Parts: sequence; structure tokens; C-alpha cells
Amino acid sequence: MGGGQTATIEVPTDQAMRDLGARIAGFVRGGDVILLSGPLGAGKTTFAQGFGAGLGISGPIVSPTFTIARELDGSFPDGRRAHLVHVDAYRLGGASYAPGQDSVGRLLDELESLGLDEELEDPGEDTVVLMEWGEQMAAALAPERLEVHIERPPAPASAADGADAAPTSEGMRLVRLVPVGRRWQTLPIAALARR
Ligand SMILES: Nc1ncnc2c1ncn2[C@@H]1O[C@H](COP(=O)(O)OP(=O)(O)OP(=O)(O)O)[C@@H](O)[C@H]1O
Ligand SMILES: [Mg+2]
Repeated sequence: MGGGQTATIEVPTDQAMRDLGARIAGFVRGGDVILLSGPLGAGKTTFAQGFGAGLGISGPIVSPTFTIARELDGSFPDGRRAHLVHVDAYRLGGASYAPGQDSVGRLLDELESLGLDEELEDPGEDTVVLMEWGEQMAAALAPERLEVHIERPPAPASAADGADAAPTSEGMRLVRLVPVGRRWQTLPIAALARR
């Protein structure tokens, strides 16, 4: 894995998710790749909104429906220009997305046709890549990355019969931060988790 310590953070509300995204944006710099994963409605785009706000991006961050990636301009905390590439790889793979080599190859082809493979392999010095659902691809393309895994914990158990608990539709999410590669060793992950 090559990562540093990981942290699991309780995120009770959508605002808290935006706040977490904004705090993490306070630590990024050009060349960074952030990978967001989690099921439908987990809060990936909500995190991305806070992240964008943290980079001073005023325009709305939405799940791109007709586009796979959006590029937005903002600034790093030190005032330097930041260029955010927000990729929604779920849209890229469509409904047929499924983990596995075939889909990785297909998705890589699609990224390539958009010129996004280079952006991921060698992001410009002021570029930050934030990718939703990209677990398979970013692992293939970006050896150093911050993985943000969002989970909806099961609703408090009412079923003693062992049936699968329904996920909560609102409220609490668990966010696991997994730094991969040297770049992320210095992320103050415990401090991010504490607030
Ligand atoms: N703690 C929380 N964190 C994030 N979102 C929350 C939380 N509690 C409730 N929500 C709500 O859950 C929804 C999350 O939607 P969002 O679009 O961010 O998910 P997504 O992971 O991007 O989904 P999709 O895979 O469909 O793109 C929003 O309506 C948000 O307001
Ligand atoms: Mg989304």
C-alpha cells in the first residue's frame, strides 16, 4: 500500500462534509490527485463542493451529467493560481462500470480520448485532480494520491434476524482518509480527523 496512517472520521451532516472538503483543500498543492469513492448518494459531490470552496472556486460544483470532467479556476491558500479538474468517472464508465481489468482498460481509453490521462499522469504544476468513483483508474494512473472513502453506515440495528441493515438515507457518513505515496505522508491526518 505504501500509505501513511489512515483515519476514519465521523461526518454527521452535509455541511460537515463540505467543511471537511474545505479543510483538505487547505493542504493541497499543484500536482495532487484526490480520489473520492463511495456509493450513490454517499456525499462525493458534497465533499467536492467544500473542496472547491476551499480553493476559492465560486462557481457551482455539480456532478457533471453531460461532461465527464469540468475544469475550474481558483487559488491555493498561498494565493497562487489553482486549476481544479473535477472528474466523474462514474459517468465515464456509465452504468456498466464495474471493477475489473476490462473496465479499467475501457475507461483509460476514454480518458485518453479526452486528454485526461496525461492530466492524471503528469498534472500541471497548478493542477489538482479530484476524481469521483475513480478507484480503479486512479490506482492505475496516480501512484501518489489521497483516497477519500465515504460510507453510509447501517441504520441502528432493528433487525436481530441477520438481514442486511438498510443504509441511512440522511445524516452520518464515515469518511476514511487513506494517504498513498510519499507526497501524503506529511498530511496532518489526525488533525483533520479531530475537528
Ligand atoms: N453527512 C453527510 N455528508 C454528505 N452528504 C450528506 C450527509 N448527510 C446527508 N447528505 C445528503 O446526501 C446527499 C449526497 O449527495 P452527493 O451528490 O454528494 O453524493 P454522491 O456521492 O456524489 O452521489 P452520486 O454517486 O450520485 O454522484 C446530498 O443530498 C446531501 O445533502
Ligand atoms: Mg456525485
